[in-house]
Amino acid sequence: MMETKPWGTEWADALSMSNPEIDAEHKHFIDLVNMLNQEIASQQRDKDNILRIMKLILDDALAHFAHEERLFKEKTYPKAVEHAQIHKELIKGIKQGLEDIRNTDHISRWVEVGLAIESALVTHLVEEDTKYIDYLRTE
Ligand SMILES: [Fe+2]
Ligand SMILES: [Fe+2]
Repeated sequence: MMETKPWGTEWADALSMSNPEIDAEHKHFIDLVNMLNQEIASQQRDKDNILRIMKLILDDALAHFAHEERLFKEKTYPKAVEHAQIHKELIKGIKQGLEDIRNTDHISRWVEVGLAIESALVTHLVEEDTKYIDYLRTE
């Protein structure tokens, strides 16, 4: 079972998509999100570093979502359009979070953004990505 703690999420076999490449990308995502939340929670939190990690999350999300969408096409996944629309919204949310952090020095806002990004990405993985497992299965 996956455990969601206030600061951090752990990968678990239950999250496997039966596709090693996608699994590796999801694990990397979770690592980055944990890194972001650790930085925000630490006493030495550094805004530039938080923004740097957010940018990594954004770049990673763009690449990962594009990869998933390529696979949807290859496997003719019936919910491809709907899923791609959700990816678009997630990217919007990450960009908005980046702007929000850039524009404020209120740590409470940074915490909100960090938790919102964690929750949005983990929820997407658990609730949306798992719907296409059977189409992606490579093992
Ligand atoms: Fe995904
Ligand atoms: Fe997805």
